[in-house]
Amino acid sequence: MMAKVKNRFVCQSCGSVHPRWVGHCDECDAWNSIVEEILPESAPVGGKSRSQSFSGTGNPIKVVNLLGNSKGAPRRKTGIEEFDRVIGNGLVDGSALLIGGDPGIGKSTLLLQVTAALAQKTRCIYISGEEAVDQIRLRAARLDVAAEPVELATATNVANILATLDIDDRPDVVVIDSIQTMYTASLGSAPGTVAQIRASAQELIRLAKRRGFALLLVGHVTKEGAIAGPRVLEHMVDTVLYFEGERGHQFRLLRSVKNRFGATDEIGVFEMTDRGLSEVSNPSALFLADRQGEVSGASVFAGIEGSRPMLVEIQALVAPSPLATPRRAVVGWDSARLSMILAVLEARCGLLFGGNDVYLNVVGGLRISEPAADLAVAAALISSLIGEPMPENMIVFGEIGLSGEVRPVNQAEARIREATKLGFTAALTPAFSELGKKNKTDQRLKVTEIRHLSGLIHEFGDDAVKNKSLGKQHG
Ligand code: TYD
Ligand code: MG
Repeated sequence: MMAKVKNRFVCQSCGSVHPRWVGHCDECDAWNSIVEEILPESAPVGGKSRSQSFSGTGNPIKVVNLLGNSKGAPRRKTGIEEFDRVIGNGLVDGSALLIGGDPGIGKSTLLLQVTAALAQKTRCIYISGEEAVDQIRLRAARLDVAAEPVELATATNVANILATLDIDDRPDVVVIDSIQTMYTASLGSAPGTVAQIRASAQELIRLAKRRGFALLLVGHVTKEGAIAGPRVLEHMVDTVLYFEGERGHQFRLLRSVKNRFGATDEIGVFEMTDRGLSEVSNPSALFLADRQGEVSGASVFAGIEGSRPMLVEIQALVAPSPLATPRRAVVGWDSARLSMILAVLEARCGLLFGGNDVYLNVVGGLRISEPAADLAVAAALISSLIGEPMPENMIVFGEIGLSGEVRPVNQAEARIREATKLGFTAALTPAFSELGKKNKTDQRLKVTEIRHLSGLIHEFGDDAVKNKSLGKQHG
C-alpha cells in the first residue's frame, strides 16, 4: 500500500494554513498566494524535524537554581561600530540573527565585511546559496578584505550544512546567505516556500544553540512585504535586523526591530561606496550636506533614531492644484499624520491648503516615525504656503495635538545638543520642563518655546501669513 501523503495549503504571503486550496487568503486578503506543501509522513504539522523521536522513554533533564554562576553572554565585537551598536554591542554565542532587506540592498556585502572584520580572532564560515565562491572572492577583493581568513562554502542542502557544522571544532560565526535558497530534502516543497524556510531555519538554529555559534541568516524581503518568507522566522530568532535604503540614495540604514540582547529601534547608518559599505558616524552632517540654504518650504527637524539624535531636512511644496481633488504625496513620513497636521492648520489657524497640492519629503531617504516631527512639518508647510524661508540656522521639533497645542517630546536636550554641535543657533521647541530650563541658558543656541501653532505662525509674522495664505487661495 502506498503511504498516505499529507499535504497542506500555506499562504506564501502571511503563512496561514488552509485546509484546501483557495484562490484568496481570507487571513491577509492576498490573491493567488496559496501553495500546496507536501509534509513528510512523520512530521507533525508545525514543522518539527522528524529526525527527533518523541516516542519512547525520555531522559530526565537537568534542573538548576535561578541563582548560580553564569558567565553573562560573551559578546563578539566586530569593530564596525554602526553594526555593533545595532545588535547590542556585539554578537552573542549560540544566538540566531535574521537580517532582512530588499534584494540588492547590500546584505551580502555587509555580512562579508562583518565576517572579515571578525575573522582574525574568530572562526567564521560564510555559506552562500546564491553566489559562487569566485563571485564572493571578487567581492572580497573589491572590499579589500580578500586576505582575511573567512571560510567560504556554497551549499543549499541543509543536511549537508548541518553535517559540516556539527563538529567539535565548531566555528564561532556562521552566515547563511540566504535562507530562501536553503532546502530540507524531507519536505516536498520548493526552496523559498514558507515551509522550507521555516524547517531549514529551525534545524540551523537548533544546531547553533547546541554548538554555541552565532548564526546570521540573510532573508530577502520586498518593501511591501509581499513575500512573507523570512518574516515567519521573526519569532524563531533572537534578533531581527532590517537593512533598508531608498533607490537612488547611497545611504543604508540598519534597523533592529527585535533584539533579545539589546535595545530595539536602534539604527546604524552606512554609505554604499564603490568599495563596500562605509560607516557614517555623523549622520546629521551627511543628511544635511546638500542643503540649499534659505529656501521656502524647508525646515530642519531634530529627531531621535534609537539612542541617537539625528538632524534631517523636511521639505514641503504647496502649490495651487488644477485638480478637483488636490494631490497629497508623502515620502518618508506618515501620510495620515500629514492630513492631520493640514487639518489642524486649517481648523485652528485658519490657513487654507484646500485648493493646493501638498508634497512632503524627508530628505536623504530616511523614514521618520516620531510624532516629534509634527512641528517641523508644520513649519515647512507654512513656509511653502507663504513663500517665506525659515532661518537657515534653526531646528524645530515638537508634537502637535488636535487643538493645535504643541506637546513636549522626549530627549529635548539631546536634540538641542546635537543641533548646537552642528552649528545651529536657534530652535523652535515645545515648552521645556524645569530641568531643561536650567541648562537652557548656557546654550549657544536660542530656544524659542512654542506652546500652540499660533506661536509658530507668529514666528513667521502674523500679518505676512494672513495676507499671503489668503492671497494665494484666492489668486
Ligand atoms: P549585495 O550585498 O549583493 O545585496 P544583497 O545581498 O542585499 O542582495 O549588494 C549588491 C549591490 O551593492 C549591487 O547593486 C552593487 C552594490 N555594491 C556597491 O555599490 N559597492 C560595492 O563595493 C559592492 C560590493 C556592492
Ligand atoms: Mg546577497
